[in-house]
Amino acid sequence: MTTANSSRIADERVLVLDFGAQYAQLIARRVRENHVYCEIVRHDITAEQIKKHAPKGLILSGGPSSVYEPGAPKCDERIFSLGIPVLGICYGMQLACDTLGGKVTGNPAREFGRTRCELKQAEGLFAGVTDHFDVWMSHGDQVTRVSDDFASLASTATCPIAAVKHKKLPVYGLQFHPEVTHTPIGGTLFHNFLMAVCGCSGSWRLGDFAKEAVEQMRQRIGSGRVICGLSGGVDSAVTAALLYRAIGSRLSCILVNNGLLRKDEQAAVIAEFSGHFKTDLHVVAGEERFLSALKGITEPQEKRRRIGHAFIECFKEEAKKIQDARFLAQGTLYPDVIESGAALDGPAATIKLHHNVGGLPAELGFELVEPLRDLFKDEVRRLGLELGLPEDLVWRHPFPGPGLAVRCLGEVTKPRLDVLREADAIMIEEIKSAGLYRQTSQAFAVLLPVQSVGVMGDARTYENVVALRCVNTDDFMTADWSHVPYEVLARISTRIINEVKGVNRVCYDISSKPPATIEWE
Ligand code: XMP
Repeated sequence: MTTANSSRIADERVLVLDFGAQYAQLIARRVRENHVYCEIVRHDITAEQIKKHAPKGLILSGGPSSVYEPGAPKCDERIFSLGIPVLGICYGMQLACDTLGGKVTGNPAREFGRTRCELKQAEGLFAGVTDHFDVWMSHGDQVTRVSDDFASLASTATCPIAAVKHKKLPVYGLQFHPEVTHTPIGGTLFHNFLMAVCGCSGSWRLGDFAKEAVEQMRQRIGSGRVICGLSGGVDSAVTAALLYRAIGSRLSCILVNNGLLRKDEQAAVIAEFSGHFKTDLHVVAGEERFLSALKGITEPQEKRRRIGHAFIECFKEEAKKIQDARFLAQGTLYPDVIESGAALDGPAATIKLHHNVGGLPAELGFELVEPLRDLFKDEVRRLGLELGLPEDLVWRHPFPGPGLAVRCLGEVTKPRLDVLREADAIMIEEIKSAGLYRQTSQAFAVLLPVQSVGVMGDARTYENVVALRCVNTDDFMTADWSHVPYEVLARISTRIINEVKGVNRVCYDISSKPPATIEWE
């Protein structure tokens, strides 16, 4: 259901019962932002199981179903009489009302988007909220009637019961979505629910999490040795930093230089993990192996497959040289755990496939340790800072496992990679010096398999085209292209064309995802 060791992570916790919501993770994040630990669990968790977790509150998420349809996901009805406060959101509210004496029907005037709401009772859940406020609605069904046990707290033009409170039980419902930023009072509602209704103190801190996690790792690993693969990315770096704090020199790190890293990436990892943290760092010089595996290959998925194979071979060979290693550390995060179904299907953790490379095979024979599996990405970044990692590393944009191979369209060769590396480094330098790096989710250069005509001095040139890609996104599932100011784009373009030999044209990618993906391949 949840992770095997979660009971030690926090004194106060709230559970989100997931009815198939788009926003279940967002709900959990909003709760954690209030310093209350929160986990997502299956909607059919039993009342007994809930009691074992001893949560301070329960949140029933939204979901795509209609409560009155056969087969709609329900919860154990006994959860309403446990005395634990319950907040139903959208489908969660409809389910609570349906179970406790109300009627839910499909409404011809479906509400999607921003809606004005009128408040009837500015107390309890709605303490501090003004008479009228905007909310984000996304529903076809709604509660059309409630028994006398309920009080209606708010309404919209087409939804007379937009928020409810049970008069005898600590049960609340919101038809709108407080978890999305389009509901400006959402933060107040979560705060009121957690502190005033559930009686939480908001004592969960990442620093405490770090201490607990370090202690847990020490106990689990005992006198064993752990291998941790480093990629240059945040997740593996924070995993290694945490393990270093737990077991010091019994941590061995492996960085496979696949020849597809960004400029100066290897040097940065060495400086951090051999200079600063003094781990037993193994750098595998795999460039030739990867480039010969990629020779003549232009098809993106085939590139990924070959990189995956080469990675596993390199990793295996190096791992064999590390005596007594029993554990393999992986930077799995909470969203990976949820997406892989592990949070729903029990402690038999489905391991995140090394998205990059098709997974490190189980036959490597290691026990897995995943110290970050209860955290969201932003929490991982904060933990990284807490553990002493430099800001530069902690705020790094994501970088795909197959590295520059999927940004070097067409054949991947050393000279082409060098052109790309230089162009990319200039772009990032300019984005950073314009103060835009942290506002941007991902920025990079792509080398196109196209040559175009230009003129330099008096001579005609026929050289490479570089595309710049810059996106803003919360979850990388959808993304908008970033509106980088023209002056910054101009500086990047001028510098690339002047400083990178072999490039005479620079384009800016103005496609959003969907339909385009973030990476070009
Ligand atoms: P797309 O291109 O699918 O990218 O919009 C979404 C996010 O995933 C990253 N990405 C990858 N990461 N291995 C990875 O580890 C891959 O093969 C891969 N392909 C895309 C991409 O950089 C973006 O952050």
